[in-house]
Amino acid sequence: MRVLVTAGPTREYLDDVRYLSNASSGKMGYAIVAAGLKIGWDMVLVSGPVDLQPPVGCEFHSVMTTGEMRSETMNLFPDCDGVIAAAAVCDYKPKERITGKISKTGGAIQLEMIETDDVLAELGTVKENRWVVGFALEAQNPRENALQKLRKKNCDLIVLNHPDAIGSQSNSVELINSDGETEEHWTGAKSEVAAELTNWLSKRMS
Ligand code: CTP
Repeated sequence: MRVLVTAGPTREYLDDVRYLSNASSGKMGYAIVAAGLKIGWDMVLVSGPVDLQPPVGCEFHSVMTTGEMRSETMNLFPDCDGVIAAAAVCDYKPKERITGKISKTGGAIQLEMIETDDVLAELGTVKENRWVVGFALEAQNPRENALQKLRKKNCDLIVLNHPDAIGSQSNSVELINSDGETEEHWTGAKSEVAAELTNWLSKRMS
């Protein structure tokens, strides 16, 4: 099994020195890559900027922006059997990136923001016989929102977690299928949750 994993945050630059991003540590995605390697999968990691070493033995692709994550994953996906999208992708970017550095004006400034590409949704549209597992980070109406995301992005399964997971060592997740049923609940260190998820997928998706 050859599996693509997206991990970490992406960055969207306002000018050459400032960017928008989020506090994702990349730990969940990196733990999934390590767990996949342990069960003998070939792992392809596309990661935004994080403070972690790529697990030894994976194929590593470093990206910065959402657009870069999109183009790397779209190139790599055709040679994979499935994808697990654990990245905390930046949903908006400034309409324009200023060359150089925006100077202070002494007053408020306004930024016009536009949506970035939805990497997972694009993978979902080209998946054919490959499997697609998304993540859903939900603060309210978690199950309904997660199922809506699964359907909108053409996923086979979605891993529901809570914003508390961002930057944490542990996680508590629910694995939801396309009928909206909860297949599994796992709580523990991200490495333990990752091992449960990869073991489950290796039994069901082979
Ligand atoms: N995702 C993605 N590209 C984006 C946004 C999200 O690939 N531009 C992926 C994430 O990696 C995750 C899933 O889509 O697997 C859901 O991400 P989440 O942040 O929970 O939801 P969003 O689709 O961004 O929607 P919202 O922020 O409104 O909840």
